[in-house]
Amino acid sequence: MQRIGQIIQTLAAEAVRDLWGVIPPVDKIQIQKTRREFTGDFTVVVFPLLGISKRPPEQTGNQMGMHMVEHSEMLESFEVIKGFLNLTVSMTYWKQQLDGDMRSPRFGFLDASQGSARVMVEFSSPNTNKPLHLGHIRNNLLGSSLARIMEAAGRQVRKVNLVNDRGIHICKSMLAWQKWGRGETPASSGMKGDHLVGKYYVMYDQAYKREVESLVEGGMTRKEAEAGAPILEEAREMLRKWEDEDPEVRTLWETMNSWVYKGFEETYRRLGITFDTIYYESETFRFGKEIVLKGLADGILYREPDGSVWADLTAEGLDRKLLLRSDGTSVYMTQDVGTAHQRYGEYGFDLHIYVVGNEQDYHFKVLVLVLKKLGFEWADRLYHLSYGMVELPEGKMKSREGTVVDADDLMDEMETTARAMSEELGKLEDYSPEERDRICRQVGMGALKYFILKVDPKKNMTFNPVESIDFNGNTGPFIQYTYARIQSVLRKGNGTAMKVGRGELNEKEIQLVRMIHDYPDIITEAADALNPSLVANFLYDLSKEFNQFYHDFSILGADTPDQVSKRLLLVKVVGQVIESGMGLLGIEVPQRM
Ligand code: ARG
Repeated sequence: MQRIGQIIQTLAAEAVRDLWGVIPPVDKIQIQKTRREFTGDFTVVVFPLLGISKRPPEQTGNQMGMHMVEHSEMLESFEVIKGFLNLTVSMTYWKQQLDGDMRSPRFGFLDASQGSARVMVEFSSPNTNKPLHLGHIRNNLLGSSLARIMEAAGRQVRKVNLVNDRGIHICKSMLAWQKWGRGETPASSGMKGDHLVGKYYVMYDQAYKREVESLVEGGMTRKEAEAGAPILEEAREMLRKWEDEDPEVRTLWETMNSWVYKGFEETYRRLGITFDTIYYESETFRFGKEIVLKGLADGILYREPDGSVWADLTAEGLDRKLLLRSDGTSVYMTQDVGTAHQRYGEYGFDLHIYVVGNEQDYHFKVLVLVLKKLGFEWADRLYHLSYGMVELPEGKMKSREGTVVDADDLMDEMETTARAMSEELGKLEDYSPEERDRICRQVGMGALKYFILKVDPKKNMTFNPVESIDFNGNTGPFIQYTYARIQSVLRKGNGTAMKVGRGELNEKEIQLVRMIHDYPDIITEAADALNPSLVANFLYDLSKEFNQFYHDFSILGADTPDQVSKRLLLVKVVGQVIESGMGLLGIEVPQRM
């Protein structure tokens, strides 16, 4: 069915043609949603048309309004305020909508077609020396919900992950395990693999700090001590051996990484996250190295006397950037050059989004410039979705100080809180233990996910676990509860026909239909703006509106059977949109709670 915006566009153009004999260019017909303080649904801005009508704004608006309402039963009335023609959509239109497209559970979704944009979304991208933390949770939630939203908006989407599985930081945990691990494994310790490896990373760091302190006490400057601590030298040696493919180092690396992957998999499963392809730095850094060496041979990059290779970006207003160290080893940037190149070769994306925290703004700016310099015209298709930092109310989380908020611990805590709350409210008493577990998991995870996703990605935020689970706020559980309430009404009304019928819709009913009518546009806007919070806040508004309606009107006890079946249909549609929208955010909705 044609969307009302297009219908109004056509009606306005026809009015201009019939009234003044000129077919107006499309860009002269500007349609907006009517501002809240005025009566109407859509507004035509008449100013651009005055050159054609040769009449004052009020008169132009009035003549057009009259013509449009006369020629379409979709429009009920109009009002002209200054140069704005406000149109009120008719009951007929809203009823048709409720009886038409809105009935489909996929209402608002577009299917990808031949020509639709190919988008690659990289998210998560952990290092293999420690477990995922709160920042990764925001990252994973943003990336996966964006992927879903863009898919719903009709794009072809590929979700990818980059695992930074090599480098000095990885060697640090390996070294500490070699020194102090005494063969400890996830099996022998009962620890999750990523946590176990993270423990050795922390041990390395403590040993390093002790060494630095004693060197400083012995008279060295702090700078010298930090650069020259023997344990750091050992880690560097290990990295060189890794690059030389020393069998012993490689075996240890493979073993410890395999522990970490097992651990990550579990965390991803719990978060409900999957990828189409996982890229590993240990493979892509080679491609990066080759590209850099070719750039050097072509005279695009240059070599310092010590053998290191650089890109000069001073002409672009930035600094010079190291791409290969003097010993030939590569850096973080080298790897990203190789990864991007490989991905473009495999997928030919129109857009490549990197979901990465804003502390890497400079890195991605440089990446694009380096790729451009190397002659890759697709470099402009890379986009860094730079999100703000997440804190807990207690204060900043810092990885070095060991006060990181661990992702697994946080998910545990959310489920425990959900359980405690429902026990307190006595809500789940008559449910089976399995169902109780499922609901607590859904509510705990829903609280976490929603609270994070309702915030604009660019903004810093504080995750407040207590607030996030409040059934009465702008929270996931509030929306989940609304959904469960809807399902309960539908269960009770089971067997009753759901149809629009002949009667009228009241003001509150129209308002719900109007809001649902916006859903497809919300999806498109969220996809264009790369901002899932638009979907989240839409669902909150819709849930609030529904609860008002539920409070004001009886559904199953409505006056006439016609009204009951109309309201049941409306309620069902609201439920479907909540389920669909929450699905875009990766949040499950419980049938009852
Ligand atoms: N692993 C990196 C980190 O934890 C983030 C990688 C981001 N993605 C990329 N293509 N550079 O800081």
